[in-house]
Amino acid sequence: MSISGNQIREKYLQFMKDNGHAIVPSAALVPENDPTTLFTGSGMQPLVPYLMGEEHPKGTRIADSQKCFRAEDIEEVGDLSHTTFFEMLGNWSLGDYFKKEQIPWIAQFYLDEVGLNPEKFYVTAFIGDQAAGVPKDTEAAEIWQAVLAQKGVSNGIADMGSADEAAKRGMQDGERIFYYNADENWWSRAGVPENMPIGEIGGGDSEMFYDFGTEHDPKFGEHCHPACDCGRFMEVGNSVFMEYIKTENGFDKLPAQNVDFGGGLERIAAAAINSPDVYKVDLLWNVIEQIQTLSGKQYEENTHAFRVITDHIRGAVFMIGDGVLPGNSEQGYFVRRLLRRSVRFADILEVPHGEFKNIANSVIETYKDHYPNLDEKRVEIANAISTEEEQFRKTIEKGLKQFHKIEVQIHVQSKKVDGKTVVDKEAGAVAKKAISAQNAFDLFTTYGFPIELTEEIATEKGLIVDRAGFEKLMEEHRTKSRAGAEQKFKGGLADSSEIVVQYHTATHLMLAALRHFLGEHVHQAGSNITGERLRFDFTHPQKVERETLDKIEQWVNDKIQNPGEVTIEMMSKIEAEADPSVEGSFWDRYPDEVKVYTMKTADGSVVSRELCGGPHIEHLSEITGTFKIKKEESSSAGVRRIKAVLLED
Ligand code: ALA
Repeated sequence: MSISGNQIREKYLQFMKDNGHAIVPSAALVPENDPTTLFTGSGMQPLVPYLMGEEHPKGTRIADSQKCFRAEDIEEVGDLSHTTFFEMLGNWSLGDYFKKEQIPWIAQFYLDEVGLNPEKFYVTAFIGDQAAGVPKDTEAAEIWQAVLAQKGVSNGIADMGSADEAAKRGMQDGERIFYYNADENWWSRAGVPENMPIGEIGGGDSEMFYDFGTEHDPKFGEHCHPACDCGRFMEVGNSVFMEYIKTENGFDKLPAQNVDFGGGLERIAAAAINSPDVYKVDLLWNVIEQIQTLSGKQYEENTHAFRVITDHIRGAVFMIGDGVLPGNSEQGYFVRRLLRRSVRFADILEVPHGEFKNIANSVIETYKDHYPNLDEKRVEIANAISTEEEQFRKTIEKGLKQFHKIEVQIHVQSKKVDGKTVVDKEAGAVAKKAISAQNAFDLFTTYGFPIELTEEIATEKGLIVDRAGFEKLMEEHRTKSRAGAEQKFKGGLADSSEIVVQYHTATHLMLAALRHFLGEHVHQAGSNITGERLRFDFTHPQKVERETLDKIEQWVNDKIQNPGEVTIEMMSKIEAEADPSVEGSFWDRYPDEVKVYTMKTADGSVVSRELCGGPHIEHLSEITGTFKIKKEESSSAGVRRIKAVLLED
């Protein structure tokens, strides 16, 4: 019997545990206090502070299976291997082991534990970058050479350089280890060395590929090679030797040599069953089979629609499981988009209405052992998904009628705005008729049609959409609504500069003071922190008098003047939630293992203990300034808002 996706995940975590790693739960799909990105898109993202030198409470060897979401891939879904949601198996050495341990381990995992055929296994290493001062990684290549020799397969090493050069050169008999340039074998969140902002971390990497043995498609270059995109080879893992930080003058070495390994679980599982189609992996196939039954249609004849529905409903289940409901907020909008696109494709397959909750259920069944939060939130997830499905079906009906009217208008009045003939650059010289920005905007605001949906339907009808004009109208609309409505917000720092982090720590002190003077009913309802001020929403039914605000200020300043340390504890969420000394909000957005920050005064007394993702200063003495509450006002029913500053002394 072939190995399942769930088994591979469990085997991996066990294997890493046996090799001294602490297994940590996946962080949530929505990163906390990281305004640079909407979703967790790679396993290393939650580890960044530790890769940069901060001490990890669980030690120097960490492993997990991280939930990831790549919104930018939403339009790519439908082919053999793209998914918006995926799991990345990860392991990290935080200044602990390096290449000579990592490479043999990972080879052992892929070849012995998962059982991939070594004949079909290819690897790459970094050719070096003179400008960045990073040498060729002969060490990694030689370690691979020894490992592969033991497996009794060919192990020749060859220089490729760029992917274009590799396509010209091709692979010679006996070669299995290839050196590529930074485009292929350097990893940072920003890509190649020249694109990295100052302060970003990265390093050369060594990637692993599985050869499906399919025929090379010459559209992708003359010859095939591991980094070719024709589909014959699939990347199944990447060990990044994370040892550099970008500076103004090039690169410095990080305080320690780290390893950041990531391997897509679905891809590894696809290699394990020798299927270039990741949807054949049981984790996804369970859902495909269910859609086959519901629709009476066969996957093989409708791969695109089946893949979209399967990927999107799975993504929505995990998002809602992490507390992101379909809506118009930044993240909620993606969940909405996932579900609305699914409705469209479900209609193409004639899946009966009202079945999304059942499809969601089969996703939950597949994943519940490893992600018990999905099981716990089964009802909430099903309800949110059903409501969105239902609502969208109502709007779609009205919207399609409106769409039809627009279409008729375009064809009848071809000289007016909507009939404007535009050359679609992608289609070359073919002229297409465009739906005006205003019509696309009305479809969005009145009929709830996401622009992507309008574009998709337009494409089906041989039309294009004035997307640039639409974006302009949207921007105007957003500016108006920002100015108009008092927005509630939920956590988030402007950045992680020193001053913002000071404000963040001061915010914890203030919440402790609010609870001290107003009562235990006070909890955080939102927070937005910049380098100039903190803005904090909290639950409290009425105005807080100035007299009380003065006391709160004084309490906070007293702690700043008698400073003690700030410490982090890792706790299981269940334990933290049950501990009355731990204050917290939004529990359901946190992973199973959480951080609790404790703040003390000089005499060691605890003044604040709060669930939080950080970052914080290490000692209250780092707060430079006097805490001052500038304003207290209503935010919404039962919620008050404070704006406060740290005045320079
Ligand atoms: N951080 C590396 C990646 O995402 C492992 O590919």
